[in-house]
Amino acid sequence: MSNAKLRAGLIGLGSMGRHHCRVLSELDGVELVAVVDPMGDKFGAARGVPILESVEQLVELGVDYAVVACPTALHEEVGLQLAEAGVHALVEKPVADTVEGARCMVEAFEARGLVAGVGHIERYNPALQNLRARLEAGELGEVFQVVTRRQGPFPHRIADVGVVKDLATHDIDLTAWVTGTPYVSVAAHTVSKSGRPHEDMVAAVGQLADGTMVNHLVNWLSPLKERFTSVTGERGCFIADTLTADLTFHSNAAVATEWEALQAFRGVAEGDMIRYAIPKREPLLVEHEFFRDAVLGRSHEISTLRQGLRTVEVAAAVLESAATGDTVRLGQADAAVPSGA
Ligand SMILES: NC(=O)c1ccc[n+]([C@@H]2O[C@H](COP(=O)([O-])OP(=O)(O)OC[C@H]3O[C@@H](n4cnc5c(N)ncnc54)[C@H](O)[C@@H]3O)[C@@H](O)[C@H]2O)c1
Repeated sequence: MSNAKLRAGLIGLGSMGRHHCRVLSELDGVELVAVVDPMGDKFGAARGVPILESVEQLVELGVDYAVVACPTALHEEVGLQLAEAGVHALVEKPVADTVEGARCMVEAFEARGLVAGVGHIERYNPALQNLRARLEAGELGEVFQVVTRRQGPFPHRIADVGVVKDLATHDIDLTAWVTGTPYVSVAAHTVSKSGRPHEDMVAAVGQLADGTMVNHLVNWLSPLKERFTSVTGERGCFIADTLTADLTFHSNAAVATEWEALQAFRGVAEGDMIRYAIPKREPLLVEHEFFRDAVLGRSHEISTLRQGLRTVEVAAAVLESAATGDTVRLGQADAAVPSGA
């Protein structure tokens, strides 16, 4: 890495922003020059980096790129300011709170030839990275179904969007990314039990372009935390736990079970179960390394803003289905099938 460091800024020093601050301030080849947060440094996370009150001040200071970690409803406004100023941006997920907002951002960054990415952090989880490589290598054969569960308690700080845009966007992005296949339809039910204006529980069923069936159960109403992804196919079933970054494979039947009493529990035959030993790097650090490399014009695997737009479109379709009771079909995806550069 050359001595000329990239100058980076951070916008939003809240629950997620403080982690970006830690990673950015230690990232090789990058200098975190300032953080913007009108509420100051409430977590004591700034590590001596100057705190500014506005994006204008950050732009005046001069930065090569900025990480946007303010509330989702502000992403569009902040993103457009950065694009206007010619600053590359890594925007937290979801890209924006509306499809129109996400599309405006894509157009603004693309028109200026700027690098813009979305913080779909599950792509950098070691379990899912390993799973994707195994699917690409054909280890599962034909993929039949992807199931995700993302359950946990209510986050009081998130008030601007519901659980579909805030959390299910992780599941939507990871499903399209891990299979390399876009969604073509969704149907969903939501409920709102916490008294907030937005939904806090969703059950969605979808279909990918190759016919793969998809199920997502996502909520803020559970006293437990679960981050589960399973992919079932011709040769068995992969299970990824993105809390522990573990990946397990249950292979299809290889050995017939003759012991009748056991058949009742295990089925008539069982195959091997393997938990893979995989290197576990911090997903946020890997996300930042790729974004830095993208800004430097090197090979990278960022989640582009355009892919993030597709995720917001699928989330909007989930909400439309829940509101109308209809299955919603999605139009052609421009660049929805993710790939590295
Ligand atoms: N990738 C992930 O896993 C992940 C996890 C949590 C949150 N997020 C995303 O990060 C974003 C922030 O979420 P959070 O949980 O950190 O919320 P938060 O409320 O904890 O933090 C938001 C911060 O932004 C600040 N802020 C408000 N207006 C601002 C402005 N105009 N300019 C600069 N800062 C401003 C607030 O003072 C606050 O400190 C959301 O888009 C959320 O979806 C992503």
